[in-house]
Parts: sequence; structure tokens; C-alpha cells
Amino acid sequence: MCGIIGYVGSENAVPIIVDGLKKLEYRGYDSAGIAVYGRGGFDVVKQEGRLEALEARLAGSPLSGNMGIGHTRWATHGEPSDINSHPHVGSKNKIAVVHNGIIENYKQIKERLEQRGVRFASQTDSEAIAQLAEYYYDGDIMDTVIRVAGRLEGSYALGIMCLDEPDTLIAVKKDNPLIVGVSEHGRFIASDVPAVLKHTNKVYYLNDMEIAVLREGDARFFNFDKEPLEKTPETVTWSLDGAEKGGYPHFMLKEIMEQPKILRDTISSSMTGSNGDIIDGMDAARFGKVVITACGSAYNAGVVAKYVFERLCRISVEVELASEFRYKDAVIDEKTLVILVSQSGETADTIAAMREAKSKGAFTLSIVNVVGSTIAKEADRCLFTAAGPEIAVATTKAFSAQLVILYILAVRFAARLGKVPPGREREMLSEIESLPAKITEILRQVDSIQKYASTCVGYKNIFFIGRNIDYAIALEGSLKLKEISYIHSEAYAGGELKHGTISLIEDETLVVAIANCERLYGKIMSNVEQVISRGAKVLLIGSCLGAEPDGKLYRIILPESGDLFSPSLSVVALQLFSYYVAANKGLDIDKPRNLAKSVTVE
Ligand code: G6P
Repeated sequence: MCGIIGYVGSENAVPIIVDGLKKLEYRGYDSAGIAVYGRGGFDVVKQEGRLEALEARLAGSPLSGNMGIGHTRWATHGEPSDINSHPHVGSKNKIAVVHNGIIENYKQIKERLEQRGVRFASQTDSEAIAQLAEYYYDGDIMDTVIRVAGRLEGSYALGIMCLDEPDTLIAVKKDNPLIVGVSEHGRFIASDVPAVLKHTNKVYYLNDMEIAVLREGDARFFNFDKEPLEKTPETVTWSLDGAEKGGYPHFMLKEIMEQPKILRDTISSSMTGSNGDIIDGMDAARFGKVVITACGSAYNAGVVAKYVFERLCRISVEVELASEFRYKDAVIDEKTLVILVSQSGETADTIAAMREAKSKGAFTLSIVNVVGSTIAKEADRCLFTAAGPEIAVATTKAFSAQLVILYILAVRFAARLGKVPPGREREMLSEIESLPAKITEILRQVDSIQKYASTCVGYKNIFFIGRNIDYAIALEGSLKLKEISYIHSEAYAGGELKHGTISLIEDETLVVAIANCERLYGKIMSNVEQVISRGAKVLLIGSCLGAEPDGKLYRIILPESGDLFSPSLSVVALQLFSYYVAANKGLDIDKPRNLAKSVTVE
């Protein structure tokens, strides 16, 4: 999960690449590098640390050239260091490569090449690609790329320059994303659209085992038999604003604030718009069970959806972490609906889970934010969240958009199955439509949430509790907090407290209790009493909040809503709370340590 970019054209590649890397930094940020085809061949600068460190190096010794490749890294093989950064150039200085992905057989390749006298400089798997390419190179770079691709096991998106081809940039991919951009002044490759959006909104989505051969005014595509391919560029409809902070101190805050609009757009596209009839093409009655599989926050969206689906559709729903699902020999068949949830559409485990589900004959439905991504393309059906580009590593608006699509899906599904009458279906759809306005009300409480969060920076442990669907959203609240504030946190079902967790409650513990389920309000409030009497302080979030605030208890009151769709409201309060705890600790919120947004490796 690194970001790659390349440019060939009439302009200096260096500022274009550095600017593009800024848009890709969410994919990795422990080191960065750039190689341009300069006057005497490749000029390479690689630097451990954030992109600013690379920029500082470049300011000291400027580079220029009309073709170049750049990389921002999230280390997998070899520590973050200058030498392990990309681009990697083979020892004959003939071929330069940037790589996103993992080469699983790099050790064998490396050993074989070392036996033949090739000297490796770095500890990375990626260097093996550059060295192997030089080893195979016999004057035809396309032949070389095809031969190299035939040897590589694992996943890759590659940008390649060859010393003998001063005006040709090559790209190829397998299981990792790569787009090709086309502007008046040149051609681009990138891991993601925002990296090129400043220059063009015309992009080609490269498929696996396709090679792009790019020159200033020319973009050609070939298969591995060197046959030309006809590809049509797509026009990206969103603008660069989505990839800029727009006056906010962090992308995360901007993305939290955007949620009313994102939800409105996603709801309308899923009721009447581009997602069509959301259950089109699916024979709801055919399914005996539903499995939702995903990673991280997308998994948490699945846990929320389980409660909604089961309650409305009376169908059994399993939620599985994609990394577990893919290896468990899941009990699924043609009568199973498998829902894949993924912001990026490129998470390696979720892709593998999808392929496993397809191989067993299940119907795969994906909920994805990134158009053109692998999961969007390969699933039997894809519903798009209209979240636009999400830059902060910790997801907010894409998660909220996933939730509303899952709600609408559950409601429509239940209606199709005859489990809810048409009147109730309409009522529920209008409850969903009322969510954006309610979120706006919560966002108005930002100042008081900020003030309260500033008193919480000293906690070493924060527990999140809830019952039923409130427990589901507590999982996301806890994940959000630990991701960006580095405070240890766990989420528990309220009823489980007495089975162990309560032994962890003491003075200086904060418990965040979520209380939207009216019928379980008494139960969660008993849990609140229990932890307060053991010294904890409590943040109570919800719409049914009888308890009066005092020195031990603080409340965030949410607008009235039925409990079924309340996670969309709770999560906004939880996001703001986490954001301001982290902000008060002065942390790098958009790029938390060790994390990356798009996890394209196992
Ligand atoms: C990473 C991100 C999370 C995200 C998860 C799944 O861990 O930091 O925010 O929920 O990957 O990503 P996906 O793109 O599949 O939703």
C-alpha cells in the first residue's frame, strides 16, 4: 500500500510528481522518492520520512526532466530508509521502477540473480523487479516487462522507465490499482485519480495484465501477447476540491463536516439515481442467508447492517472479517448473498474474500466508493457510495455513506420479501432521508464536543459500550479513537461487562456509553451506574438520555430517531470526539502512525 505516480510530457515532471505524491500520501508516508530521466540518464532522490523531507532535499538539489516516476512508501519489506525507498534502479542503471504491492517470490528471484553476480542495494521485494528487468532486458522493453510479469508472484502496480527509451513511460498492473491520465501536455500514471486531477479528468482504468505504453501525445495499451487493446477513457466527475482541505486544519474534520451532503447524495443515488433500483438483478427470495465481509471500519458498517437486516428481513446475517473469511472455507453457496464493503475497492483481503465467494457460486454485491476499483469491477453488482475522494486515513464520510446504502438495501430487501408493508417501507425510507438534517444538528454541537474532548486527553484506557445496534456502532467509535489518538480503547457489549471487562474499570477510566435503543435504555444505564460506582467517568451519547449530567457523567444529546438508523447519528458524535481528543494531543490526525488508508497487502 504505497502510492505511485509517473509523468511523460512537455513539462518538467518533478513538480507534477511531487504534487501528485501529496495526493497519494494517504497510501503510505514513511519515505518517498523520485526518479527523472535527466540529461545524463536517471537522476534519483530518495528520502526517509514524510514528503516534506523529500521536498527539502529537492529544494537543495533541484532535478528536472520531461519524464519521471515517484513513490510514497508504506514499508513492508525492509525498514523505512533512504535506500529502501523507491524508485529502485537496477545495478546497471538501465531500468528504474516504482512498485505498489508485494512480490511474494522476491527471495527466490533475488537469490537466483545474486548467484549470477547481481548486487542488490536494498532489503525490499521491489528491487527484485528492477534487477530482474535489467537481467532480462535485450533491447525490447515491452518484451522485458512481459517476461518479468510472468515471473512475479504477488501483486503489483508498476511504473517503469528504461534508459534506452527517453520518452516512453511503461506501466503494468496485477491486483493493485493503476490509472492512466491524459492531458494536453502529457500522460500520467497513478495509483489513484486525485494525483492527476489537477491536470486532467480523463482517465483510463488499467486492468490486470494490461501494459500501458505512454509518450507525450500518445497512450497505447497492449495485452501480454503484445496485441493492441482498445480502451475508452472515462471522465471523472468529481473535482479537486474533494482532495483539498478547504480551510480545515485536517482532512478528517473536513470530511466529518461534509457528511450531510455526502449522505444526501448517496441516498438520492440509491433511491432514484445512478445506483438504479438498489435490489435490481437480485432475486431476494433466493437467498437463504447473507454474509457481509470487509475490513476495518467497513467491517463495522457490516456489523451495524447485520442488526438492521436481521430485524427487517428476518434473514440470518453473518459478518466476517475478510482476512478470516478468505481462509475459512466458508459455508456458502448459490443461495448466499455475499456483501463486500470497501471504501477503496482495493483492500487485498476483501478482494480475496470476493473471489472466494464467487468461486463458491454466491451472488456478490459490493458497496464501494472508488469507481473503477477491482471490487467494483469484479463483483456481480456494485453500489457506489457518493463520498468523493476520502483523504484522511481514518474513514468518516465513506463509512457513513456505506451505512445508508446498507440501510436502504435492507429496507428494500425486506419490502421485496414481503416482510414490511409498503407504508412502513416508505416511512423508513423517509427516516433515512431525514438523517442528513439530523447530522447537521449534531455538527452544530462541535464546540461543546471539542471542549469536552480537551478534558479527555489524559486517559490511558477508554471503553465503549452499547447494547444491540448501539454496540455495533461502539465498535466503530473505539476503532476511530485508537486509530488517531493512540489511546487504548475497546468496545464491549454492555451485557458482557460483568464477564470480565469490569475488572479493568477504575479511577481514570473513561467509559463511552451509547444509548439509542429505548427498550434497552434501562439496561445500559445499569451498566453506566456499575462503572461509575467503580470510579469511571462516563460520556453518554444518545437520544434517550434521562440521566442528569454531573462531575462523573457528560452527555451528548442526539436528535430523536428510531434506534434502527441511529448509528448514523452516534457515529458523528464519536468521530468528533475522537478527532478532538487527537487534535488536543497535537497528533498527525490525517496520517496516523503505522496506518495506511488503502491496505493492498495481506
Ligand atoms: C484501512 C483504513 C480503514 C478502512 C480499512 C478497509 O485499515 O485505515 O479506514 O476501513 O482499511 O478499507 P476499505 O478501503 O476496504 O474500506
